Amino acid sequence: RGARAGESDLAGRHVVVSAGGTREPLDPVRYLGNRSSGKQGYALARTAAARGARVTLLAANTGLPDPAGVDVVRVGTAVQLREAALKAAADADVVVMAAAVADFRPLTYATGKIKKKDGEEPAPITLVRNPDVLAELSADRPRPGQLVVGFAAETDDVLANGRAKLARKGCDLLVVNEVGERRTFGAEENEAVILATDGTETPVPHGPKDALADRIWDEVSHRLAPPTA
Ligand code: CTP
Ligand code: CA
Repeated sequence: RGARAGESDLAGRHVVVSAGGTREPLDPVRYLGNRSSGKQGYALARTAAARGARVTLLAANTGLPDPAGVDVVRVGTAVQLREAALKAAADADVVVMAAAVADFRPLTYATGKIKKKDGEEPAPITLVRNPDVLAELSADRPRPGQLVVGFAAETDDVLANGRAKLARKGCDLLVVNEVGERRTFGAEENEAVILATDGTETPVPHGPKDALADRIWDEVSHRLAPPTA
């Protein structure tokens, strides 16, 4: 194993990758969003295609050009991402949730633009929980042997939080990276530790997002069951 140029270890596999960040609308012109650029998810899609996989990329608000040879499904909200992910996962060998999914959405959507009124304080925004797509995909696998990979961006106690999250989510691998004001968001490079349920921890040094993507596919590739004829 290990990524070699021209290696086709994912040939015959269908992989689903989510990328970007969901946006939860408040009114026709405003949303709650996050700072995920989508670059790491696109790197995963590109490298999987280069290794021979059929790739479905669920792109949440990325504005990045479609990678060549990849099926791109555009989604906006967490609820839309869940629907697209469940559909694409039905015949997938691997699902990687690299998208930043909003944990909460506004309870109500104003069909007209919210206006301020003289002398009035703004109304509070009530939030409700969004579905946890990764936990749901991990719990209900439509195919035996399907692998599910999550991501976690943490600011403190990165590894301890990562291990707890891996157990809580029920996925097979969790890619943990440390974030902060200067780190990861929008950057071309990333560093991470890949945690697995079998206890292995694979540190990936600071480098291009494509290199991290290839290391993730290495970890996935040797855990996949032999292809069925
Ligand atoms: N995720 C998801 N659905 C959600 C929230 C998160 O599928 N509603 C996925 C993300 O795509 C990512 C993983 O779960 O792969 C971890 O996301 P993270 O925000 O780190 O986890 P949370 O459980 O939301 O924990 P936290 O309270 O730290 O935000
Ligand atoms: Ca979260």
